[in-house]
Amino acid sequence: MKRKHVKLLLLGMLMVGISLAINSQAPTGVSFAQQQSVEYSCPMHPEVKSKTPGSCPKCGMTLKQVAQPDPAADAKENAQWGDTHFPNVELITQDGKKVRFYDDLIKGKVIALELIYTTCKYNCPLETARMVQLQKQLGDHVGKDIFFYSITIDPEHDTPEVLKEYAAKYHVGPGWTFLTGKLADIKLISKRLGLDKLPTGNDPDGHMPSLLIGNDATGIWMRNSALDNTKFMAMKIEDMLGYKAQQTVDTVAANQAGAVKLNINTGQYLFVTRCAACHTIGNGDKVGPDLLGVTNVRDHAWLSRMISEPDKLIEEKDPIAFALFQKYKQIPMPRLNLAEADVNTLIEFMKTQTASFASREKTGTQN
Ligand code: HEC
Repeated sequence: MKRKHVKLLLLGMLMVGISLAINSQAPTGVSFAQQQSVEYSCPMHPEVKSKTPGSCPKCGMTLKQVAQPDPAADAKENAQWGDTHFPNVELITQDGKKVRFYDDLIKGKVIALELIYTTCKYNCPLETARMVQLQKQLGDHVGKDIFFYSITIDPEHDTPEVLKEYAAKYHVGPGWTFLTGKLADIKLISKRLGLDKLPTGNDPDGHMPSLLIGNDATGIWMRNSALDNTKFMAMKIEDMLGYKAQQTVDTVAANQAGAVKLNINTGQYLFVTRCAACHTIGNGDKVGPDLLGVTNVRDHAWLSRMISEPDKLIEEKDPIAFALFQKYKQIPMPRLNLAEADVNTLIEFMKTQTASFASREKTGTQN
């Protein structure tokens, strides 16, 4: 009976997700450019919008100006549009192969796409790591029924070679292509996909982390925040494709999320959405170190800084943080703009998980 409720709840969320996607995110015939009346927005919370400059009420970051539509650019863009919603511009893969955005990457396919830049210290590492998680959950279907793309918004720095190395660092599997190209073309793509809060790779705060999932054949497109639970995303994709995703979930935390207790605990929720893409607690290293027992060997103040401002610790060459940074192939632990209370909740969560892991080991629960 409980399960039924859970299913209904999930179904409800799914439908809301999809209808939101259709209503607000889908690249319909209406140009995205025309809906921009907002002048300032928070880079981390795109829903925060303001007519005047200031700071974000959620995270305190300075609001960034959002580009105003340029009629001349729009006209040029429409001319390139052809009969599809997607510009058919040329991009280059991590292997140096030239491809056309629409013809080769989108046409007739189901795709998941993110915009990244490899030097990002904020949300893109989380976003990429979460796509890796999603890729695992979808198993063999990736590269056959669904195609993953990461397009750089910093093509000057992110050459095919740089992208190839980046993909390897994150253990990206087959069926996922990394792409670079001309900056103007990439801007056009991002605009057409509604991901156009993007200035240049030099302005990290302007990047809006989101993953676009779409089906060219049915015209259903949805944008997911980089913070959505990958299990929900896998379900949405399953739904689009009409099959069940493989149940290969590889973190303790994600397993617990899979059980979907209705009284979801905040620590668990934060961990699953912000950390589990790169860390497990007791299931071995992923992109980042296994955090089992970390609360026993590091003090609270250090952990708190490592979670809230890892970039500063690394910059200061804090011996522990710097050694970890070197060891983990120089993938930076990202700065995720968490509130202090959330950081404390996460530390508490790591503590209780460490304790319960020990007792689970004893009772022989699966994992
Ligand atoms: C994009 C991947 C990624 C995400 C997301 C991420 N981390 Fe990390 N984390 C790392 C890497 C990589 C390291 C190793 C240090 C480095 O390279 O900067 C690390 C190091 C750490 C450490 C230090 C471990 C030790 O042995 O002292 C802690 C604690 C930690 N992360 C906690 C978290 C928490 C909590 C979250 C979620 C809020 C999180 N991380 C999100 C990648 C990530």
